[in-house]
Amino acid sequence: MTTYPTVPLHPMHVPAHEAEARARDFHELMARRRTVRDYDRRPIPDGVLDLAIRTAATAPSGAHVQPWRFVVITDPERKRRLRAAAEAEEREFYGHRASAEWLAALAPIGTDWRKPFLEDAPAVIVVFEVHKGPDSPRPYYTKESVGIAVGLLLASLHQAGLATLTHTPSPMKFLNEICERPAEERAAYVIPVGYPAAGAAVPDLRRKELDEVLIRL
Ligand SMILES: Cc1cc2nc3c(=O)[nH]c(=O)nc-3n(C[C@H](O)[C@H](O)[C@H](O)COP(=O)(O)O)c2cc1C
Repeated sequence: MTTYPTVPLHPMHVPAHEAEARARDFHELMARRRTVRDYDRRPIPDGVLDLAIRTAATAPSGAHVQPWRFVVITDPERKRRLRAAAEAEEREFYGHRASAEWLAALAPIGTDWRKPFLEDAPAVIVVFEVHKGPDSPRPYYTKESVGIAVGLLLASLHQAGLATLTHTPSPMKFLNEICERPAEERAAYVIPVGYPAAGAAVPDLRRKELDEVLIRL
């Protein structure tokens, strides 16, 4: 049998009679999260972004490789370059590359090639997946691990009162240069963060009911 170093677990002690109420509170909090596409320029309070990224980096990951990097862009000039490059890609996507089926799926969300939020939001977090390279070990389940980390990031920012947008320009190669990241890192998400603009509206979407997503056996 292989041995490996261990430390004591310090488990959460939530009394059983409080468990449901805590789960309900968290659900109510998360049910209020919406993807926001209109930001004002109010700054993000100090420390929040670092803590949200620390939270994201607590995510489980395949073989504990932690295959993520988070680039935080706040410099206006770099945000301007990011927007210009993203809009060039998105013009191609909406004008030529996207299938009619894909465009139809996007229609109720109202997105198009314009990405003002990349400049308006006070910060943009670009999340990279770290693939195998000279300085990085072979990761396992990279996409799954980074996806979980991004979920925690969005939850942390939401509970701090900040809005986010999970943006996925396609393709994303241009982000390596703008973010000064090496080739073994591949951008997976571009996440503007900030406060919603006054009067911001969001698409009228319905979330599936529990009985549409839960199968009990
Ligand atoms: C992986 C992923 C990619 C997404 N890409 C984009 C995107 O490129 N642009 C955009 O405006 N929204 C994008 N979204 C946001 C979705 O459109 C949004 O989550 C969905 O419409 C549900 O709305 P809600 O987040 O307000 O519940 C993406 C969401 C996910 C999870």
